[in-house]
Amino acid sequence: MADAYEPLFHGLETHGWAVQDQLLPAPVVMQLYLASRYAWRQGFFHEAQIGSPDHPIRNLSIRGDTIHWLDQNNAIQGCVAFQRWADNLQLLMNRHFFLGLRRSEFHFARYDKGLGYRQHMDQHRGQPHRKISLVLYLNRTWHQPDGGELCLYAPGDKTREIRRILPQFGRVVLFRSDLIPHAVLPCNRPRWSLTGWFRTDSLLLDTIVASPASNDDPFPGATPSGAAA
Ligand code: OGA
Ligand code: MN
Repeated sequence: MADAYEPLFHGLETHGWAVQDQLLPAPVVMQLYLASRYAWRQGFFHEAQIGSPDHPIRNLSIRGDTIHWLDQNNAIQGCVAFQRWADNLQLLMNRHFFLGLRRSEFHFARYDKGLGYRQHMDQHRGQPHRKISLVLYLNRTWHQPDGGELCLYAPGDKTREIRRILPQFGRVVLFRSDLIPHAVLPCNRPRWSLTGWFRTDSLLLDTIVASPASNDDPFPGATPSGAAA
């Protein structure tokens, strides 16, 4: 295992969470910082929702961020380098923990002044595929009075706070999506991050399983090259 990851993996193994600064190459963090602001200016962000996929609702008092999913096919510069880094991290975690991670998904998140995210778990009931959560903070300067700390609570005891983490530039937090209750405290200025999950499902299998009895083509767009469309 690469030495740089040793403290991170040790934390993940013994506590279910870990935080580390300067894990990513500085130019990659800078590119993501620029990409997040670019995507915001382009109007790519949308309001995050809670509830089931069938009944999404927006409730600012529970979850206040606006988000923009990174699209691996239409990558903004900077996201490509990050995705390569995340793929390597996935490989290392699989080797180290035998997690069977198969893919990852990430979005930029922006909380406006005064907003946060109430205590929650990232792994939702009936959806066991999110295994490891990752947050990378993209705020150039951030101090205590700016608020917006990530609050971690004890596994199995959501009343016991175990750590507050300031969302400082380049800082990475990893935690078990099924284990760690957490919250984002209201921030006093806009708060930016890249947040995502390493998962054990595969997109292709999902597509097939989601429509087992239908006549829908489970491989849309997968027409063999040269064949008449
Ligand atoms: C989330 C989340 C934490 C953070 O988006 O699910 O908990 O510090 N984010 O932004
Ligand atoms: Mn969360």
